[in-house]
Amino acid sequence: MSNNTVTITDNRTGKKVDLDILDPTMGSSTIDIRKLHKELGLFTYDPGFQATASCKSDITFIDGDKGILLYRGYPIEQLAEKSGYLETSYLLIYGHLPTPVEYHTFVKTIKNHTMVHEDLKMFFNGFHHDAHPMAIMVGVVGALSAFYHDSLDVNNPRHREISAHRLLAKMPTIAAYSHRRAHGLPLPYPRNDLDFIENFLYMMFSVPSREWSVDPIAVRAMRLIFILHADHEQNASTSTVRLASSSGANPFACISAGIASLWGPAHGGANEAVIRMLEEIGTPDRIPQFIARAKDKDDEYRLMGFGHRVYKNYDPRAKIIRAACNELLETMDSTNTPLFDIARELERIALEDEYFVSRNLYPNVDFYSGIIFKALGMPMNMFTVIFAMARTAGWISQWLEMMDDKEQRIGRPRQIYTGVKMRDYVDLNQR
Ligand code: SDX
Repeated sequence: MSNNTVTITDNRTGKKVDLDILDPTMGSSTIDIRKLHKELGLFTYDPGFQATASCKSDITFIDGDKGILLYRGYPIEQLAEKSGYLETSYLLIYGHLPTPVEYHTFVKTIKNHTMVHEDLKMFFNGFHHDAHPMAIMVGVVGALSAFYHDSLDVNNPRHREISAHRLLAKMPTIAAYSHRRAHGLPLPYPRNDLDFIENFLYMMFSVPSREWSVDPIAVRAMRLIFILHADHEQNASTSTVRLASSSGANPFACISAGIASLWGPAHGGANEAVIRMLEEIGTPDRIPQFIARAKDKDDEYRLMGFGHRVYKNYDPRAKIIRAACNELLETMDSTNTPLFDIARELERIALEDEYFVSRNLYPNVDFYSGIIFKALGMPMNMFTVIFAMARTAGWISQWLEMMDDKEQRIGRPRQIYTGVKMRDYVDLNQR
């Protein structure tokens, strides 16, 4: 018997099976349960996949206990300090930091795909004026499938690469259009003389009637936000993209599914939910009643921006973004920051409260990103849209990796059936 196995015994029958232990480069080893049903007739049960690996991946590593996050082995702290979003995207997609030639070629390629088909722009007029930009993003990104028949053979590596570039390049344009449509603003063409972040801010905030200039504080903050949100291993939205893609569906539709999953307040929607929570609290003296609700087992209420499925230590992204958040707030006029005073007081209380400390419920990246977006004057319903834009690099990297993974098959989880046993149909006049 190999010593790198576990033995499972079914005590009802005495039958045993030796299952291989798969050892990672870093992190927890994993039991390969693929032959368990064949040998013992047993499945495994793990709601929310808290202890289940869905794939092997070389892209991102998280150590939730030590608060470590690596993109292709590089610590997030170093990338946050030294890299840019497109360089980080290249790293996630191709697995290495680009040479100068690789980098400039990649940037040029992405710039060549920033425009959207003129007919796609008509989709924006179909939405009600107060449609949430995330609803628009889900619809319009999915609709890209209808425009790119030349690159939808998901089994063709070159088609996959072109689709990945198109998605990365067009997300800022679609995001900005989703915002501008709701405000009756014209849809500006992307500007290739600007870098990725500057171009997004230009498409978001420029108006034809006046000069537009780059705000270096906003660019610096957004660069950090984009890098920190670029990928995060097998989170809910990435797992959604992988599962949707496992059937061979086209990448535009699968990324649209990922956007839909990210929108939930327990996931990427938390940054918007944080500000709504701070506004609902209203004044620091009301914080204790909200903390009490969050602790009440009979109340579904949770403190938005606190806790994480994996990090049981401080989210390393939160540490980085907290410093940027405080630096940004210090540059602001302190008179109009009551909301941020509540955030600071809420953070202080939660970090001292036994309920939160005993459950390792630290402020996560969404707690501070919501505050930064608010401080930058970003519309609240655009917070998760920005998260989706940044996470597109991770979604497409994980999709490309999955499509090359020979072990991957169509995702098809099993269940524990708890319904009624087989029974015969009863005619209507007999019931
Ligand atoms: C993101 O997965 C990723 O990587 C996600 C993400 C990414 O980059 O993709 O990091 C982005 O989604 C960050 C998380 C943003 N969400 C929020 O801020 C929403 C608030 N947080 C919670 O909804 C919650 O913490 C989750 C969803 C983030 C994690 O949920 P888990 O892992 O299922 O937590 P749990 O239910 O196991 O919690 C353990 C205990 C429970 O209490 P007990 O049953 O032990 O008494 O902690 C409590 C929970 O009730 N708890 C909270 C809480 N989060 C957990 N109590 C109050 N407020 C909270 N926020």
